[in-house]
Amino acid sequence: MQVTVTTLQSMAQQGQKIAMLTCYDATFAHVEDEAGVDVVLVGDSLGMVIQGHGSTLPVTLEDAEYHTRCVASKLQRAMLVTDLPFGSYQVSPQQAFASAARLMAAGAHMVKLEGGSHMVDTVRFLTERGIPVCAHLGLTPQFVNVFGGYKVQGRNEEAAERVKREALELQAAGAGLLVLEAIPAQLAAEVTAAMQTCPTIGIGAGVDCHGQVLVLQDMLDIFPGKKARFVKNFMQGQPSIQAAVARYVDEVKARQFPAAEHSY
Ligand code: KIV
Ligand code: NA
Repeated sequence: MQVTVTTLQSMAQQGQKIAMLTCYDATFAHVEDEAGVDVVLVGDSLGMVIQGHGSTLPVTLEDAEYHTRCVASKLQRAMLVTDLPFGSYQVSPQQAFASAARLMAAGAHMVKLEGGSHMVDTVRFLTERGIPVCAHLGLTPQFVNVFGGYKVQGRNEEAAERVKREALELQAAGAGLLVLEAIPAQLAAEVTAAMQTCPTIGIGAGVDCHGQVLVLQDMLDIFPGKKARFVKNFMQGQPSIQAAVARYVDEVKARQFPAAEHSY
């Protein structure tokens, strides 16, 4: 059965963990769908893992549409979320709707955008017009030039309070999912406990989120360079890529991943 926003809500209510994984092409879409990944994300991480850039900023709306079409062609069960690329939504809710509508036409079931209070009006605008929204707080990679690097967020009390406040604001505006990236596990647990209708998905945010997400090339350990603390190599000990992806799903469902060593 097709996973939808209501499926995710009832999973969160029943304490069943949501397994989310990035995907950029048809072959991996098939692998992930077969392995039981609940939510497939065409992330703007494609700027790094597919295009070889040093950040997500050069990704265009056309790139996101293209990869969405590739992935959508082979999904049967998983819900498909696509990132709104940098520059395609920040100007106004109207700009965001026009961009998001193109991603939905390409096969997305939900769009993802980065940011807190300043995105609340946009989340409401899209949701009221038929486009479910996944919000993203904490280490939001499109802000790398403002943050001065990829650094853990929400470490001091003021920053932690802000994450909590913004999570509730985004939920009230209708957000259907919330990614929490690279924040202390304790903070993510508090945010998750406070959510009523909007499940949380962690990446470097501890085991207490309603679900987890990783970048495919990171969890297969094929992306060159230093691994972030929150990445685990799921290829280790596995005979195939299919088995590694299935193991990821199993460990998320069983709350085995992430362990304390992957958290802040
Ligand atoms: O672009 C991406 O892959 C993401 C996830 C890491 C959440 O936004
Ligand atoms: Na992203």
